[in-house]
Amino acid sequence: MNTPSEFALSRRDLLKLGAGSASVIAIPTAMADVPGAREPARAPVVEKVNFRVNGKKQSLQLDTRVTLLDALREHLQLTGTKKGCDHGQCGACTVIVDGRRINACLTLAVMHKGAEITTIEGLGSPDDLHPMQAAFVKHDGYQCGYCTPGQICSAVSVLQEIKDGIPSHVTGDLQAGATLSAEEIRERMSGNICRCGAYSNIVDAIEDVGGKRA
Ligand code: FES
Ligand code: FES
Repeated sequence: MNTPSEFALSRRDLLKLGAGSASVIAIPTAMADVPGAREPARAPVVEKVNFRVNGKKQSLQLDTRVTLLDALREHLQLTGTKKGCDHGQCGACTVIVDGRRINACLTLAVMHKGAEITTIEGLGSPDDLHPMQAAFVKHDGYQCGYCTPGQICSAVSVLQEIKDGIPSHVTGDLQAGATLSAEEIRERMSGNICRCGAYSNIVDAIEDVGGKRA
């Protein structure tokens, strides 16, 4: 015969029982009938993506989940654009799309059908450097170089933004527009991280090119 203590539920038993009941309730009836059943995997959705990259027409068949960064690096072998964090935090993947700099890791390639995309390879070549590339060399604006393609694409866009009168958080007079200053450059380049700490030389390079343009 069972003693009262054998029937008594401990607090631990009660919690186990509660958790078990909850999981039974959470399983949809149809699936609960089939032991080990899982939802069937969905086939990837593939779309044709046409855009121009560095002045050249490109046509790719891409899984709609492919980022612009992976499309450039893995499908077009344009590995100048770097993958740093893949989370929009470092700026290493910066490219210029329809005149605006963006983080290529934060956007899907399929969202840029028909776009004009410029990567570091499209700005200049070893024999014919873009002025910003030449200024980075002149001012030692890099050490390991991993962040440099993103820094240069950003820097080119920064000068255009200032020229177009687009204000930043440190622009004092919104009517007069931004002027080229170290403060403006630092603020606008704050999305591009350099682990080697080449920041002051990067600012020098941008000021050099901006000054020449002015
Ligand atoms: Fe895109 Fe870091 S790799 S922001
Ligand atoms: Fe090395 Fe910027 S030069 S991370």
